[in-house]
Amino acid sequence: MVPSERPAATAPSPLVDAPVPESVPHVRLNVAVLGSTGSVGTNTLEVIAASGGRFGCHLLAAHRSVGPLLEQARRFRPAWLVVVDEAAAATISPADIPPGTRLAVGPAALDELVTGPEVDRVVSAIVGAAGLRSTWAALDAGKTVALANKETLVTAGPLVMRLAARRRASLLPVDSEHAAIHQALRAGQPGEVRRLILTASGGPFRGHSAVALAEVTPAEALRHPTWSMGPKITIDSATMMNKALELIEARWLFDMPAEKLEVVVHPQSVVHSLVEFVDGSLVAQLGPPDMKMPIQYALSFPQRFPGPARRLDFCNPLTLHFEPPDPERFPAVRLGQEAAARGGTSGAVLNAANEEAVRAFLDGRLRFTDIAMLCGRLLREHPFQPDPTLDDILRLDAWARQEVASWVGR
Ligand SMILES: NC(=O)c1ccc[n+]([C@@H]2O[C@H](COP(=O)([O-])OP(=O)(O)OC[C@H]3O[C@@H](n4cnc5c(N)ncnc54)[C@H](OP(=O)(O)O)[C@@H]3O)[C@@H](O)[C@H]2O)c1
Repeated sequence: MVPSERPAATAPSPLVDAPVPESVPHVRLNVAVLGSTGSVGTNTLEVIAASGGRFGCHLLAAHRSVGPLLEQARRFRPAWLVVVDEAAAATISPADIPPGTRLAVGPAALDELVTGPEVDRVVSAIVGAAGLRSTWAALDAGKTVALANKETLVTAGPLVMRLAARRRASLLPVDSEHAAIHQALRAGQPGEVRRLILTASGGPFRGHSAVALAEVTPAEALRHPTWSMGPKITIDSATMMNKALELIEARWLFDMPAEKLEVVVHPQSVVHSLVEFVDGSLVAQLGPPDMKMPIQYALSFPQRFPGPARRLDFCNPLTLHFEPPDPERFPAVRLGQEAAARGGTSGAVLNAANEEAVRAFLDGRLRFTDIAMLCGRLLREHPFQPDPTLDDILRLDAWARQEVASWVGR
């Protein structure tokens, strides 16, 4: 079923545009969770469940995990469930859907429903470039988007930021590094920022030699030392491509030139990122590695209130270690710096090549070290366009995927 009503243009929400004093009774914010069955999606639902009614679920969307989605629907009673995959949706019988909830099917239905007037905040937590279109639709309708789907800014950063500005829509980062920077930036003025420093855990292979890296298996790469995440981002973390994507995300989200973006390896994942100001002060945000913290920040901004995220306990010893990334063993970071500096179609090609290469690695068709090698090749060889349209980006995304598929096939 596709919803019939067209989206109404939304006025800027007073909850978003002005801080609400503590004494004012809170208004329930209706949240649309795109990718609710994933790692960020389920953490978002925990934040909503613990919010004491501040947040409610208006819409839950998944690709094809129908069983978990229906379970979420029974617990959270959203107005809408969206299943993007038609074949998966066909397995649902009306009796499975709780009273008061309606089912919509397909990507177009999702695009339309996120723009509805009842939606106050959209959590964009679909994995991969597939998350771009619904995020675009939400921003086009002037919504406030809590953005976990970094691929949106990696593939189409300048276009997305221009759209958000034109529609007076807001983007709040859910990526823990960008949420940390968003908080740290509030300690100074934009002209006082010297550099943004993104922390990286270094992944499970931080101590591996280049020779050992060539032999790692998907099962080993899926065992992240500090974060529990979906499979694609866990592999990205192991190759450090995740940091490459985050550099590009930071480039556009904070409008920061690439030469002011740096990466430091910090295996404890407690310092989530830092801002250095011109006087040499470093302002950081700290907390245990728990996505519920940045998710709640993005949902509640500009307010704060107690939530379910874990807390640091200084009764136990805590040692924080920092070291520079090794570009020889982890060349992906340099690809991110190149793509952030060059802009244009670089991010889209890097991202699409990486998505396909990660898929091939997980299927046992590509070696771990070939992921960054292939991405680097396509990044340098692709027909670069400095100021692409969305169509150009989608065309080059498809081209890069095809190139990786042919390389793997050979
Ligand atoms: N996990 C983290 O801690 C973390 C931290 C920072 C940023 N992020 C970013 O957040 C995003 C989500 O990551 P994740 O780790 O939560 O991924 P995940 O666990 O793999 O979950 C992905 C979600 O997206 C849905 N999905 C996949 N393809 C879709 C499609 N074509 N249309 C609609 N829905 C689709 C999945 O539905 P099904 O279950 O039906 O397949 C699932 O709900 C990624 O962009 C990632 O880089 C994640």
